[in-house]
Amino acid sequence: MKRRLEPWDCARELLQGLPGGLLLTAGAAGRVNPMTIGWGTLGIQWATPIFTVFVRENRFTRQLLDQNPEFTISAPQGEGAREILSLCGTKSGRELDKIAAAGLTLAEPEAISVPAIRELPLTLECRVVYRQPQEPAAIDPRFIRRFYPPEVDSGFCGANRDYHTAYYGEILAAYILE
Ligand SMILES: Cc1cc2nc3c(=O)[nH]c(=O)nc-3n(C[C@H](O)[C@H](O)[C@H](O)COP(=O)(O)O)c2cc1C
Repeated sequence: MKRRLEPWDCARELLQGLPGGLLLTAGAAGRVNPMTIGWGTLGIQWATPIFTVFVRENRFTRQLLDQNPEFTISAPQGEGAREILSLCGTKSGRELDKIAAAGLTLAEPEAISVPAIRELPLTLECRVVYRQPQEPAAIDPRFIRRFYPPEVDSGFCGANRDYHTAYYGEILAAYILE
């Protein structure tokens, strides 16, 4: 069962959830891979509701998004998802099947090919309509040192030398899995 929502109905839950983490799930070539995100924006562009995610160069997720430009965003309801978000934010899908390791249950999507996740039931289904590698010279210098330390290797799950690519996802469906 799904309780259908307008994207704006979930704005508070999505934006309040971001600092603790939401899941961004991408999938291609038979792999489905969830990654924890702490950054994201919800808004309107091209008269279209858009959720934008920011993914560093070396993430496995980035590879999947470039192969198949679709993703789901999943938000937890309550406190139960802490361990899931911790695992999906520190391990790479290159080395681990995070769906199996975190004990996640996939749910059939309706508008895209990437599934929703039952354990984090508030879901957006998104298709990428624009991607933009961020331009280092255009970023406020205050943020450069803090978020892009040049001595930290790209393989590190936290802030590292890699810049972000923004993926703008048109929101095609929004619902809560019940
Ligand atoms: C709370 C939290 C928020 C995060 N936010 C982001 C983010 O917005 N963008 C990003 O590229 N990585 C972010 N990360 C790091 C990735 O989740 C982490 O590197 C993950 O292992 C990448 O998985 P992948 O290689 O399977 O894509 C975050 C990690 C945590 C714990």
